[in-house]
Formats: sequence, C-alpha cells, structure tokens
Amino acid sequence: MNTTVHSRALLYTDWTLTEPYFDPVLLRTRETIFTIGNGYLGTRGSFEEGYPQALPATLISGVYDDVPVIYTELANCPDWLSLVIIINGERFRLDRGDILHYERQLDLHAGVLSRFVRWRSPTGKTLEFRFERFASLADRHMLGLRCQITSIDGSGRLAEPFPWKIEVQSSLNGYPENQGFDHWEQLDQGELEQGIEQGIWLQVCTRTSHIELVMAAKIAVIGTEASFQVASPPGYHTLTTTFMAAAGQTISVEKVVTVFTSQETERPVQAAQDKLLALPSYALLLKAHQQAWEAVWQHSDIVIEGDRMAQLAVRYNLFQLIISASPQNDRVSIPAKTLSGFGYRGHIFWDTEIFILPFFTLTQPAIARSLLTYRYHALEGARRKASHSRYQGAMFPWESAATGDEVTPRSSMPTDPYAEAVRIWCRDREIHLSADIAYAVWQYWQVTGDDLWLRDYGAEIILDTARFWMSRLEWHPQQTRYELCGVIGADEYHEQVPNNAFTNRMVQWHLETAVAVYEWLQRTFPNQAAVLAQRLQLTPAQLLSWQAAIAQIYIPYNAETGLIEQFEGFFQLKDIDLTDYEPRDRSIQAVLGMDETNQRQVLKQPDVLMLLYLMRGVQAAPYSHDVLQKNWDYYAPRTDSTYGSSLTSAIHAILAADLGAPAAAYQQFMQAAMVDLDDNRGNTADGIHAASAGGVWQAVVFGFGGIQLKNSGPVATPHLPPTWSRLQFKLHWHGTCHSFDFVPSDSHTPNIQGFIFDLDGVLTDTAEWHYRAWQQLADEEHLPFDRQANEALRGVSRRESLLLIVGSHAYSELELQKMMDRKNRYYVESIQTITDKDVLPGALNLLAEIRQAGIKIAIGSASKNAKTVIEKLGLADHVDAIADGYSVEHPKPAPDLFLYAAHQLGLDPAHCVVVEDAAAGIAAAIAGGMWTIGLGPADRVDSADIVLPNLMGIHLADLQTKLSR
Ligand code: BGC
Ligand code: BGC
Repeated sequence: MNTTVHSRALLYTDWTLTEPYFDPVLLRTRETIFTIGNGYLGTRGSFEEGYPQALPATLISGVYDDVPVIYTELANCPDWLSLVIIINGERFRLDRGDILHYERQLDLHAGVLSRFVRWRSPTGKTLEFRFERFASLADRHMLGLRCQITSIDGSGRLAEPFPWKIEVQSSLNGYPENQGFDHWEQLDQGELEQGIEQGIWLQVCTRTSHIELVMAAKIAVIGTEASFQVASPPGYHTLTTTFMAAAGQTISVEKVVTVFTSQETERPVQAAQDKLLALPSYALLLKAHQQAWEAVWQHSDIVIEGDRMAQLAVRYNLFQLIISASPQNDRVSIPAKTLSGFGYRGHIFWDTEIFILPFFTLTQPAIARSLLTYRYHALEGARRKASHSRYQGAMFPWESAATGDEVTPRSSMPTDPYAEAVRIWCRDREIHLSADIAYAVWQYWQVTGDDLWLRDYGAEIILDTARFWMSRLEWHPQQTRYELCGVIGADEYHEQVPNNAFTNRMVQWHLETAVAVYEWLQRTFPNQAAVLAQRLQLTPAQLLSWQAAIAQIYIPYNAETGLIEQFEGFFQLKDIDLTDYEPRDRSIQAVLGMDETNQRQVLKQPDVLMLLYLMRGVQAAPYSHDVLQKNWDYYAPRTDSTYGSSLTSAIHAILAADLGAPAAAYQQFMQAAMVDLDDNRGNTADGIHAASAGGVWQAVVFGFGGIQLKNSGPVATPHLPPTWSRLQFKLHWHGTCHSFDFVPSDSHTPNIQGFIFDLDGVLTDTAEWHYRAWQQLADEEHLPFDRQANEALRGVSRRESLLLIVGSHAYSELELQKMMDRKNRYYVESIQTITDKDVLPGALNLLAEIRQAGIKIAIGSASKNAKTVIEKLGLADHVDAIADGYSVEHPKPAPDLFLYAAHQLGLDPAHCVVVEDAAAGIAAAIAGGMWTIGLGPADRVDSADIVLPNLMGIHLADLQTKLSR
C-alpha cells in the first residue's frame, strides 16, 4: 500500500487542510479526516449527495445502544447532511458525469468544512457547487449546511437550454446504520408549525437504551423564488425545494438543523422545534460559531514556525480532540476513535486519561473536569466489576461506555466461518486502568488546584480504587512481597504475565497517592473525610496496611544493569531484531502470530518506557536520566512502533527529546502527528487515533518544550527540532495562563523561505542537449571539443561557453553572434522533445514537499530557454519565479542572477537556499549571501553548505536538519 503518495495529495497551510482532487479509493479515510464536530456530536466527512460505499455517520456523545458481542456501541444517528440535487431530472453525483474541478478544505481556525466541485453531467450540463458545513461550537445543538449552485454552461450535446429546473431534496435520514445494524425505532415526524412552512422534524428512539432523539431542519433558498414541498415517507422526512436557474445564476440553499436527545431534555421534540424557530440567520450562526472557535484557539493553540507540515498536523490533531469533548456533559467521555468512526465502537479506554487528558487539563480545565467526572459517575459500574470478580472497591473496566460496566468483548468473531474465535483477555487482565485514572485525577488537581472537585469527586475515585488494589494484590510469604500475577501490562503482546513493572509501580504510586489524598482530606475537609471513611469503610488499620503494601510491592529492577524488566521472565524470552522483518505493512503480531509474539521480547507499545514517562516528575531512584537511557536503549528497538500501536510514537518522541536525541524525537513525533493525515497505519477509515492526537500535544509541550510540572508550576527546558524557528503555547496553572515562546538562540539555524534551483544538472539534464548542440557546432567549425571539454561549460553562459570553445581561434563579433544563434537553434530544436519524464529522480518529490511546507521556489538558470524547459518538464505550476538568461547582465559567478530570483520571490537572500551543480553557481550563491546545496562530486561543489550526489531520495526535512548543523 502506498500511503505516502496519498498523503502528498493533501495540501497544508498553517490553518487549512486541502484535498485537491477526489479519489474514490480514499473515500472512507477522507471521511474520517474531514470529520467535523463540537463535542456534543461528530459528523464524518461524507458527501451531502452521497456516494456508493460511503460510510456517513453522525455520532452523539453518550448515545449508546446494545449490540451483540461488543455489548454496546455509539449508535449512528440520523444523517442530517443528506441533500439530493436534481437538475432537469439529472441527479448530481460524483460517480457519474465528469468532475472538472474538485477541492475540499477544512479550515481549522473557523471550524468549517467546504467543498468546491465543478461538474459536467452526463448530458453535458456544467454546474458549480460550493458546499459548506459546520457543527456549531457556539450552540452545540445546532448544525449548518449551505450549498451554492451556479449553472455554468449547457453546451453539451444533449443538454437542455436554460433556464434549468433545479430540485433540492433535503432529508433527515432516519435509517442510519452501524455497519448493517439498525439501532433506531421510528417514533414520529412532522412539519414545523408557527410560521415556518419549510421546517420538518424527525423523532426516533434507540431500541434498547431507549434514548429518544429529535432532529428538526429548515431550509432557505437565497437568490431566486422557490417553492417548497414536504414528503413524509416514514423515517425519511424530506423537504424539497424547486426553482429555475438561468445561465450563470448562483442560488444558495441553506439547511439549518437542531438536535436534542432525551439525555439533555425530557421533551426533545419541543426543544428541537423551539430552538429551530428561535435561530437567527445562517450568516449570524456561522459568525457565532467562528467566534467560539477563535476563543478556543486562544488558549489551546500551538504555534510552530519553520515547519508548516508540523504546524498544520499539530493543529489538526488538536482540532480533532477539541471536537470530541464538551464541558457540558459530565456523563460522557472521549472514545478511542473520538466521534469520527466505528472503530472500537465508541468505547472509552485509558487513552483518554493518559494520552488525551493532559491537553485539556493544561489548556481547558473545565473540559478535563467534565471528563474526569464521567469516571466518578462510572464508579458504580466499576464497583459492580470489582464485586463480580470478588474484589473490593472499584475496578474500572478496560473498555467503558455509558454505565462504567465492562464492555470489552470476550472474544473477537472471525469473519472466516472455519476460524476460531480469539479470546480477548484485556477485560480480565489489563487492570492498570484504575491506576491510570487516579494518575489523571491527581494531575488535574496538581495543575488546577481545584480542591472542591477533589473533595467531592476525585478523592472518592482515588480511594475506592485503592481499596480495589489492596484486595487484588497477592501476598507471597516466601518472598515477603506483594505481587500482581496474570496481568497484561501496557504492552498487549504479552497476555498473562507475573509482576509487570508498569502495573506494579503504578499501583504503588496509586497507594502512595491515596494515602496523601486521604491525609489531605482529613486536614482540609474533615467532614468529607468522615463521610468517605464511612461510605468506603476506611479504617486507620486499613490505611496502615496501604503503607505496608507500598513498601512491599515487587518491582523487577536490576540496580546493576539499570534495567527494569518488563515483567518477571521477560529477559528469558527469545530475542528479536525487528529490522529482520522490514519492510512490512502489518504488526509483528500479524506477521508471527499471537503465540510466537508472546514468546518474544517484542513490545506492541511502550511499557517500561511508558512507566518511566509517567514517573518523569518523580525524582526518587530508579527514575534517573541514566536509567532512562539504559531502558530506552533496550526497549525502544524492541518496540513495534510502526504497526504495533499508535500509542507508541508520541511517547517515544518525548523520551527521545528528554535524552537529547532530536532526530529520533522528530521522526517519532511526525509519525504520530501524521498518523491520520498520512493514514500511516492504514486504518484511519475506522476513526481518528485520539490517543495519538493527545500524545502529539504532549510531545510538543513536554517533549520539545521540555515542560516539567513542578510544585511551583510548569518549568520549561526546550529542545526544539532543528527546523523550528519558533514554538509558542499556553498552559493553565492554578487559574493563571502562562505563555511560552521559544526562539532558538542558535543563530545558525536557517530560516529558509525560498529555494532557488539551477536547472541544468539539477532538475533535468539539459546539459546533454547543450553538449550535443555545442558538439554539432564545434564539428561544423572544426574546433576541438569533446565531453571532457564540455565539463568546463557547466553553469557558464552561452557567450562564455563559446569563447571557451573557440579558444585562440579568431572570429569576428558578427561570426560569434551567428554561431551562438546556430547553437541555440540546434538546442531549441532538441528541447522540444523534453517531457516530464526528463525530470531528474527525486526532484519532483522534493519540489512538492517544499511547496507543501509553504516555502517558495524559483529557477535561477543562465539558460535563455529556461521557461520553455520548465514548461516542457511540466514544472510550471511548481515554481513561483524564473530568473533566466535574460534576467541580468552579469552571469554566474556574479551573484546577480540569484539575487534577482530572491527579489522576484520577495525574499531576503539570507532566507534562500540555492541548489546548484556548478562551482560557478555555488560561488554566485555564496557571493549573494545565500545557503547552498551542491550536487555532484565534492571537488566540484565542495564550498557548498551541503554536498549531495543528486536529489534522489532527498527530503526537505533532511536538508533543513543538515543546514542547521
Ligand atoms: C492498545 C491499547 C489502547 C487501545 C485503544 C490498543 O491497540 O494496545 O493500549 O488502549 O488500542 O486505542
Ligand atoms: C485492543 C484491546 C481491546 C480489544 C477489543 C484489541 O485490538 O488491543 O485493547 O480491548 O481490541 O476491543
């Protein structure tokens, strides 16, 4: 699978993500990528008009319904997007007719998704469609959609003359499905009364959880007279508007939808109608939405300068997190795939507390509080799980949904009718989650100082889960220690292990914290301490037993080697060298099988390293830099970081940054940041990788910003990637907002804003054509000339070249002129045959990366035919300016040509880098005060900042890193 090519097709600016063409192969992946939402709901980026194989979905936080095998899932809600457009009886659809132009764009700053399509129908009618949609962040029960239709041309052979009759059918589709499963019962539908004739509503109810949902919609047509009609097939309420369109006329259809469920109101039908009636115009709604986004970005944005791809990718990940969380409902949390797809069925994992929560805790604490309060409400479910397994207290389920009961499937059902079902042990054995939640509670309190929340909610979470640990710990009298056997650690490749260091140490930390919290409560809020002591049956003796357990929990650590053993016996397993399996496009578990993987020292995701990351702020041994280095050296190469788990890369990036390995840190960071934009694991169609997105924020702030959370507040030790010329973000600490702004002090870091490419020998090899033209001329004139003599002509102007060839032979000026014209004629004739196949290997890729990074490109060539060659090579669209043989008087090595190119780009020469294959060219660039990349043998271009044989396999990031050194 060639995912890289796919990613290249997306274009980035600092705030926008653009899909410049439509590829049906990427349909579902792009539906995920272009998900919009507002925390209350998420809507995948499916097309309004539909498409075969599409997977449209609107998922509302907390709207779960029962389903076999996986217990419960987020029910796909009625589709509010549906807009069928019919022009003189012909339906607009991208799988028919011709797509003349297509562009889809997500504006992260405004929270708006738009799409422009110029389409020719099968009968030859050409129209333009501009779609726009948003899920209001200002009013989370409101959704907006607009389609502007322009009739362009009816000159097709079969097309009817203007005006065209356009019909727009706008529906609320009450038959959404979850991959074939229908969760909804149709209750009722109707038209809106009170003056709005063009309004409809639909009322449905989930089959087993009995959640009632109502959507109401109205449409308005702007730009012409229109008639309205309602059709009410059950569950597919449709409002049709019809109008006539003249040539060139633009008509807008605006659809505004409200949505409520019985989770927010007892009377959703009324609420949806009332709200719809009260809404102002589409334009005002959009404005309020954009202002709400503006306000959110005020505290949540991260600014990266010098690396546009990273900038956009980081913002994209934050956008996806922001649209999955709302401060308004503390009975829901963020699913592992957010509200953007069916993967993991909307279940909630430790991904939320450990990976996602720090972003909210430190930028929007109200949302963090709401997410943690979800776990408080889920305590009853966690108590049921504990008592079911005969433990005390609260044991949080590995996968959670509405109630906090365990919803991890018992086994996965194979599609092959003869294959065995695979038992999923996580529900029974992956127990670390209770400690992970306590960790997030503690971090929230540490960062916010929200004592009242800790008193009323957090303390009970920490204390009741501590009771669970005490009943789960196993006392081993011979070794006089507490153990936890038969567990799965963070690394799920090993399914039943004794004394997983991650779990044991997290439990130890949890008990330490529980003691501290209880003592704090007794001191600060003695009444609440007494209430909890009663409710949770906490006795002084019990607290003493916690203290004892803390001292006696076994952590497999070898002080001599400095290595923490992932679990007892891990080092005895068969070793592995992951490079033996490259290249691959599957996880190691998929390659080796589950049993064999279990027998190997290979990790699905960080385990010991995860522990060292979480214990980063804990000063006590063995969590020193030296221990981190030793364990990194051991475990990082044994971690299946490409296809094992998407939870790996961001954590590895932070640790690599801590260890002073910027290249590894940056590589891992980009892998995490691009996980969905690049679909680099091949499963983005199932939904956004939310844990990775949260990890990306942590990688920037804790990794590159080097932020440590001290008692006094956040403290930074930045280690920016070499190409970053600035990093800015804000953190909230105890109600105050702290701004961080890092600019590398190292002035050698180049701020590259423009690339100037020589043409011959760099982007293409016209040197050969030049040589042949000169050779022909020289032969006709009986002048000695050969390939070797030609070497001296690299980068040299036509006149200078000729003078070198004629040497001491005497020619008049007129003769020289004629010879130059002749040579040029031979050359121009030959370059007519140039095609895009003549672009040298690697050049096209690099040009595309440079453009994507927002860096400008110019050609700086002594050739008078540079423009023709660029056009013939198909590169005209890639360059912003061309400086050629007509541009300046003094040729290279004078700097004039490159200075002219920089000027054309509007750039300071110090911000430009010249790519050249000739010594004269490098000299010219240096004289102009520019950065230089020399191609060819070192002895020819050795004065360049970087010397490369050619551009094959060269990436922008490599060049930037090398220039920084
Ligand atoms: C990972 C878990 C994670 C889950 C949901 C699994 O593949 O191993 O750590 O919680 O995915 O993202
Ligand atoms: C994940 C587990 C999860 C299971 C069932 C696996 O792919 O790694 O964390 O519990 O799926 O959803």
